[in-house]
Amino acid sequence: MKDVYIYCNWKIYLDDEQSESLLRGILSSLQTLTLPDNTPNINLKLFPSTSSLRSLSKIISNCDLPNKKLKLSMGCQNIHYEKTGAFTGETSIMAIQGYCESILVGHSERRNIFAEKNADLNKKTALILENKLEPVICIGEPENLLKNDSEGYLREQILSSVADIDISHQVVFAYEPTGSIGTGVATSPLEVNLKSKLIKKILKQNIPHLDLSLIKILYGGSVNNENITDYLSASDIDGVLVGSSSVDLQKFQMILDKIITLSPT
Ligand code: 13P
Repeated sequence: MKDVYIYCNWKIYLDDEQSESLLRGILSSLQTLTLPDNTPNINLKLFPSTSSLRSLSKIISNCDLPNKKLKLSMGCQNIHYEKTGAFTGETSIMAIQGYCESILVGHSERRNIFAEKNADLNKKTALILENKLEPVICIGEPENLLKNDSEGYLREQILSSVADIDISHQVVFAYEPTGSIGTGVATSPLEVNLKSKLIKKILKQNIPHLDLSLIKILYGGSVNNENITDYLSASDIDGVLVGSSSVDLQKFQMILDKIITLSPT
C-alpha cells in the first residue's frame, strides 16, 4: 500500500494568529478522525509563513495524534541557497531547520515573480539535502506548452535542479502546471499521471543509479475536496500540494473526510 503525501502551501494567506488558529482547528479534526484499517499511511505537511514556523512546530510537538498512520509535520516555503552571509531579508536554512522537515524549491511564484533561476534552485536543493531535509522541487510548464511538447521544458527543470547532486534522501517533485495554480482549472488526473511517469523516466534515463523509491511525485494546482481522491488514486501520483483549499478549515476538513475514504492502491 503506497503512502500518501498531503502537503499544504499556505503561501502568505494567513498572519501568525490565523495560522495558529487554523492549526488548532486541524489538530482537533485529526483527534476525532477514525481511520479504517486499510487506510494508507498519511503524511500531512503544513507550509505556513516562515514567521509562524516556530510557534506552530511547538504546538505540533506537544500534540499526540491518535493514529500511528497519520503523521503531521512542517515545511518551509523558501530559503536562501547560502547557509549564512550578507543577504538582507532572506531566510537561512539554519534559522528554520529545527522546525521543519521539508523546503519548497522553485515554486512557480518564486520563479515567475521573484525571477529565481534553475542554477540557484540547484544550489538550494544541494543545501537542503546536505542538511538532511527534504527538498520539494516544484516544476511545471506554462499553459501554452501544456498541450504541446512540454517534455524538453520539464527535462530542463528537473535535471538542472538535481545536477551534480548525490540523491541519498527522499526528494519530492511537485508537478504544478502554472495554468492550474489558483485558477480553479485543475489538470486532469490522467494528464498528471502521464507527467508523473515522464518525470520518473527522465530521472531514470539521466541518473541511471538513482533509486526511484526515494522520489515522490505530487500534483499541485486547484486541488480541492472534489478532485483530491482522483489524484491520490492514480497509479503514479504519490500526493498533492494544496494551496487555497488548505487555508480554510471547513474546506480542509472536507479534504480530510475524502482522504479517509481512500482505498489501498
Ligand atoms: P492552489 O491550490 O490555490 O491552486 O495553489 C496551488 C499551489 O500553488 C500549491 O503550491
